[in-house]
Amino acid sequence: MALSKTTRLQYLNALGITVWQSRFMPESLAPPIESAQIIATKIPLIDSWEHLRADVTSCQLCSLCTTRTQTVFGDGNLNAEWLFIGEAPGEHEDKQGKPFVGEAGKLLTEMLRAMRLTREEIFITNILKCRPPLNRDPHSDEIRQCHTYLQQQIALIQPKIIIAVGRIAAQTLLGTHETIGKLRGKVHSIENVPLIAIYHPAYLLRSLIEKRKAWQDLQFALQTFKSL
Ligand code: URA
Repeated sequence: MALSKTTRLQYLNALGITVWQSRFMPESLAPPIESAQIIATKIPLIDSWEHLRADVTSCQLCSLCTTRTQTVFGDGNLNAEWLFIGEAPGEHEDKQGKPFVGEAGKLLTEMLRAMRLTREEIFITNILKCRPPLNRDPHSDEIRQCHTYLQQQIALIQPKIIIAVGRIAAQTLLGTHETIGKLRGKVHSIENVPLIAIYHPAYLLRSLIEKRKAWQDLQFALQTFKSL
């Protein structure tokens, strides 16, 4: 994939290689999401990816089914050791039916490269499988309705480590309103799987304030994985 000079510069900036100015509110100062904690309840397990994918594709459990172009199930290795969980599809993801394919996705791919990981060997999905209109934050009822799909994905993949990508994913998965600044740099756990929270690449594209910490987070995730 050929990257434009500007895009490349943004990636490098976000990874901490050069500096540009940002007026974006730090993710650590953003208000907490309306509701958190999705992974507490036990659910009956679906036995196959096919069934789960079909359920997601035809889902009408919340009103996002009326505004989506298509569902975004997730992508990657079904037996991945690394499971990355973002917030929700954006405009590009909604159009293409794949997670993290926009600018933030390209940066995520670069971040993976820095960890010597590829998109093909990990699995990436989102808390929500449908795009919220205008990319607004997910509502608590949407999170609730969608959470079984994520639980099923975790159960089927059985990852060794989960990376919560960004504040909303981290707060939702951990059932907390703590800031991303407090959640990063620690090993949490859901469903008996270690979980690490990292800054969202969309945030990193706009802010340089936490760029060094973002790099530290990737190192921390790698060290944690190696110690498992
Ligand atoms: N941001 C997310 O959290 N997920 C996507 O799939 C794309 C952007």
